[in-house]
Amino acid sequence: MAVDVDAGMPRPHIIGHRGAAGQAPENTLAGFETAARYGARWIEFDVRLTGCGRLVVVHDAELHRTTDGAGPVDAFRVDALCELDAGGWFAGAFAGERVPTLEQALDCAARLGLGVNIEAKAEGDAGPATARAVAGPATRSVEHVILSSLDLDALRTWRSLLPDVPRAVVLDDWREDWRALVDELALEALHCHHVWLDAPRVEAVRGAPRAPVLRAYTVNEQDRAAELFALGVEAVFTDYPGPLVAASGAGAGGAPSRTRRRPPAA
Ligand code: G3P
Ligand code: MG
Repeated sequence: MAVDVDAGMPRPHIIGHRGAAGQAPENTLAGFETAARYGARWIEFDVRLTGCGRLVVVHDAELHRTTDGAGPVDAFRVDALCELDAGGWFAGAFAGERVPTLEQALDCAARLGLGVNIEAKAEGDAGPATARAVAGPATRSVEHVILSSLDLDALRTWRSLLPDVPRAVVLDDWREDWRALVDELALEALHCHHVWLDAPRVEAVRGAPRAPVLRAYTVNEQDRAAELFALGVEAVFTDYPGPLVAASGAGAGGAPSRTRRRPPAA
């Protein structure tokens, strides 16, 4: 049976996507502060392995879209990456915002009282190394952590290293074999692109034995969020946490139940 051990943090309901990607530069500490200011209780951010084995909070494999740098993230050491400007591209007011390390992101979230979903990005065979690099900082710094990845080898690594930390597979495309993934990887949740979620699919997942939680991304329309919640989706990732928190009537954006710290037994 799933165990609730957390007395304070609500389960994720409205999750700031990449912080609050519509309102501040994605995957930056300013974005996390923006999400918190707009009432989010949880954020999601992406991490990538650098050339020196540390992790930085960046979505893309290449630097040019979200920083003033260029080239692949994994071609640089962490100290060089942390000197890049990760805010000026979004708006002048955010110029000088830095690329955070995973540790800086976790410290910031802890200070703001935010739960975090760390999504490991990995190409090729980088999944296990990325997952191993996440494991130490993730469990040291923040009590309220969900780990996710599209990379199945990253999830296998976490299952072995961090069996008690909730884990989710990211489904950019729907997979008919989701049940096998949940069982093999002992997943708590499916983090699914919202376009794949309709009533029959949600009912099939929710009606399954040891059903995983469903969380949907990226949902920026209030009507779509309401529709998904009505279907039984537990949480949405949004670039605009403010309006969704306000519309949810859940105060600070949390559902009343507590964070499940253990995935269901496989
Ligand atoms: O983790 C949910 C969502 O962030 C996955 O998509 O591309 O925004 O990382 P992406
Ligand atoms: Mg992500």
